[in-house]
Amino acid sequence: MCGIVGYVGSDAPGARPQGVVMGGLARLEYRGYDSAGIAIVTDDRERVAMSKKAGKLVNLEKHLAEHPLAAGTAAIGHTRWATHGAPTDANAHPHLAAAGRIAIIHNGIIENFAALRAELQDEGVEFLSETDTEVAGHLLAREVSTGRSLADAMRVITRRLEGAFTLLAVDAREPRTVVGARRNSPLVIGLGEGENFLGSDVVAFIEHTRTALELHQDEVVEITPERVTITDFSGFVVDREPYHVDWDASAAQKGGFATFMEKEIHDQPTAVADTLRGRMDEHGRLQLDGGMIHESILNSIDKIIVIACGTAAYAGLVGRYAIEHWCRIPVEVELAHEFRYRDPVVGVRTLVVAISQSGETMDTIMAVRHAQQQGAPVIAIVNSQGSTIAREADAVLYTRAGPEIAVASTKAFLAQITAVYLLGIYLAELRGNKFPDEIEALLDQLDAIPAKIQRVLDTSEAIREVARTMADERTVLFLGRHVGYPVALEGALKLKELAYIHAEGFAAGELKHGPIALVEEGLPVIIVLPSPRGRESLHSKVISNVQEVRARGARTFVIAEEGDTEAANYAEQVFFVPSAPVLMTPLLSVVPLQIFALELAAAKGYDVDQPRNLAKSVTVE
Ligand code: F6R
Repeated sequence: MCGIVGYVGSDAPGARPQGVVMGGLARLEYRGYDSAGIAIVTDDRERVAMSKKAGKLVNLEKHLAEHPLAAGTAAIGHTRWATHGAPTDANAHPHLAAAGRIAIIHNGIIENFAALRAELQDEGVEFLSETDTEVAGHLLAREVSTGRSLADAMRVITRRLEGAFTLLAVDAREPRTVVGARRNSPLVIGLGEGENFLGSDVVAFIEHTRTALELHQDEVVEITPERVTITDFSGFVVDREPYHVDWDASAAQKGGFATFMEKEIHDQPTAVADTLRGRMDEHGRLQLDGGMIHESILNSIDKIIVIACGTAAYAGLVGRYAIEHWCRIPVEVELAHEFRYRDPVVGVRTLVVAISQSGETMDTIMAVRHAQQQGAPVIAIVNSQGSTIAREADAVLYTRAGPEIAVASTKAFLAQITAVYLLGIYLAELRGNKFPDEIEALLDQLDAIPAKIQRVLDTSEAIREVARTMADERTVLFLGRHVGYPVALEGALKLKELAYIHAEGFAAGELKHGPIALVEEGLPVIIVLPSPRGRESLHSKVISNVQEVRARGARTFVIAEEGDTEAANYAEQVFFVPSAPVLMTPLLSVVPLQIFALELAAAKGYDVDQPRNLAKSVTVE
């Protein structure tokens, strides 16, 4: 939520600060697109130059073309997902203070802003926006007016702020400095040659440097062209080792596809293959990417709780079937935002698995902290290197899906399922539930999946054609059973997000307990049919469900395994996916559903990369 970029790099004012920040905003726009703005420190020592516009970044770009800003030495930029105040020009960031000397941008929510605002108003400060952010700007102004440096002022004010914030600020009187601070929201530092960068995400500066540092909780960073200084809120200097980002700018481009969504769907064979690559050592032990949970602890756990939100939670639901089957450990899957409010039974023998693409989802971060406070070991399955969840968990297994730019998740979902499977296989081996040859067979089966996903992609024209005919539909139902159930949920979520069509996913067995009342003449129902090679009764039970909805007038579209000769008898159309072991079929059967949503949304003329009201990384609770 909200993308933030900062840059400092030269003594003499030039065009690069604006260029770097606008380029960064274009890459970060997936984090929010309600408004965008930029502030530049020029050679005017009284006022920074600033421009901001409601709506997508293109509005700001047009405005800057017509009303260029002066050249600068440093700049900050922001793309907003609105929380406090409507998406207007006035509420867009940056916000100015000290008569335009200070500019500030913010990601997060300052929870005590009302009290701070009242305090500042009592002192005669006039507010120009409805945002919580503006209070931070005026607090900074108050501190710099006493002669403090911008960094010192930031350290003072952050101690008064409650809630979640990444703040970046510039001061017209310190033209070679950008200052940042963070609590509960992400901020990454990019190290350049004679220039330095700040971003909500490395994507912001990946085309300029692949050497990065994370700012941790309750820290302040000051960047100049030559130096990066990190301190805690009290001013104690912190040493931090940089890391190398293992993907480059090309991974965050469309690569010849019309949209990021299309590209990311096509990235899926690679995302799964990369997540699997080199994972097991010669003893069949899983190679984690960081931290560790001692094997004796993993041997003693008697329950697993997966915490996640949205698509990541559906990956957890898929994983539950596999882990329970392979490891005989009970697995619960809990939405992270519900978890800590229901007083969950969690203890040292509960392994908590936190799944998150961004690693910055606030609900999941808070659930991880809650679990750790109860003594539970936490393993994170995360895509973004160095993100908060990855750092705070006791161990981390990275999904290697590469940057996911489209707001709705696709390749991260497949990579998350793959990583949960790896965890399940590892636990099964460690706890003696499977023999080494069984483990090897499971890994071989997983290794065969990327090529099968590629086949689904290569044969997707039929589902695209059907999707294009459905632009006027108002409701679509998705049914699945066993591992097909979370696939149905994910198919429905994708359709809601991308095509703004009312869609519901149901466990097929639940149909007769109520949802069948929704079925009427012509309603499209998409059914994920279990493999006929699985539990035979499940296949025939779902075939019965297909017949039941068809008998009531529904149009039935079935995702079935190649060779399933029965499916065609009951469906208007069948889309076949290659055969795979039952537990691994979600990695294939979800792909046509992603393509269906994408194509239908495109047919309606919607922006599939940036659907309305959404933001990629939900960094507020
Ligand atoms: C759906 C989607 C969201 C995310 C959810 C969790 O397409 O993208 O439902 O899956 O917000 O985000 P992460 O995985 O970043 O924690």
